[in-house]
Amino acid sequence: MTEFAIEAVGLTKDFGDVKALAGVDLEVAPGTVFGLLGPNGAGKTTAVRILTTVLAPTGGHASVLGHDVVREAAAVRATIGLAGQYAAVDENLTGHENLRMVGRLTHHSKAFARARATELLERFDLVDAANRPVKTYSGGMRRRLDLAASLVHRPPVLFLDEPTTGLDPRSRIELWKVIEELVREGTTVLLTTQYLEEADRLAARVSVVDHGRVIAHGTPAELKATMGSTVLALTFDEPSQAAQAAGILERSASKRPRLDGTDVELIVDGGTGVVIDALRALGDADLEPATMALREPSLDDVFLSITGHRASLDEPGADEPGADEPGADTAVSPGDPKGTTAPSPPPDSPRHVATTSRGAS
Ligand SMILES: Nc1ncnc2c1ncn2[C@@H]1O[C@H](COP(=O)(O)OP(=O)(O)OP(=O)(O)O)[C@@H](O)[C@H]1O
Ligand SMILES: [Mg+2]
Repeated sequence: MTEFAIEAVGLTKDFGDVKALAGVDLEVAPGTVFGLLGPNGAGKTTAVRILTTVLAPTGGHASVLGHDVVREAAAVRATIGLAGQYAAVDENLTGHENLRMVGRLTHHSKAFARARATELLERFDLVDAANRPVKTYSGGMRRRLDLAASLVHRPPVLFLDEPTTGLDPRSRIELWKVIEELVREGTTVLLTTQYLEEADRLAARVSVVDHGRVIAHGTPAELKATMGSTVLALTFDEPSQAAQAAGILERSASKRPRLDGTDVELIVDGGTGVVIDALRALGDADLEPATMALREPSLDDVFLSITGHRASLDEPGADEPGADEPGADTAVSPGDPKGTTAPSPPPDSPRHVATTSRGAS
């Protein structure tokens, strides 16, 4: 039997012409959190659906606790919990009723289902809402109930598909704590996420997927090390000023700044001294940015660093630089990414470490 709690080898999945997975290998050590990190359409949900026996792969194979997901699907289902990307709870039932129903569906006695429902509602801080229909719950409460529902039968392996997407920062942190607790108790967790910060906080190891392929893997620290620790983001009033600034910064930094219209971004990995030097050089040239921010690298930054293209916000299509384009995915071998540039943060970039704008000071 394999030493891994979850293992996938050469997993492929075609939906007609769409190669949702194009040969994915995964190895998840027992009792750890594994992060599958990728933008929209990367293939994360497809991978989770195959590993949880919902979908059959087109090629390759995978196992959970040594059970093949195709040949031993029933055994796999008995050992896993799944909280899908979209809440699977019944809107019209109360929280308590939902959990009881899951208990009964997983062939437990009425008494067990009732006791387990009460226990889980306490654990997820839903006691006050236990007897209210789920349609009155907030998004965070729904996600917590969904996670509770996936735990009714105490699965040793848990799959969480974007558990915190759409949650406010407080609810996100609460959910992280619950996940950390489960792992301390020995649960193996595979979660998908679009947030580098989330993978950083929770996952022991991460695979970055894009267009159905693993484009990098390692510890979150290794991934971030490809980036540098901080991104200095500047905007100028005029593109010509931005271009001039990029030229100046190029001389003072180890990595080339990225120029996009009036935006200039610089990866800073030499500490605050590099930032001070950069700003001094701009000041000497009478270039005053309209806004300035220091932030931690986002998934988007890591993407650009590894692939040379931004994490697409849309589904991969003919107009996207992607799997069919030689170079996009093959320029850097997994585990050996090298970074040069950085884009702007995604709209809900999780961590801004500092922001300032001219005139505000
Ligand atoms: N049932 C399906 N039929 C056709 N195409 C599909 C189907 N499911 C997924 N796809 C396609 O497969 C690709 C991967 O989709 P998937 O849902 O796995 O991505 P994802 O990484 O989970 O994205 P998101 O972050 O948006 O949830 C996409 O191009 C998607 O359109
Ligand atoms: Mg998905």
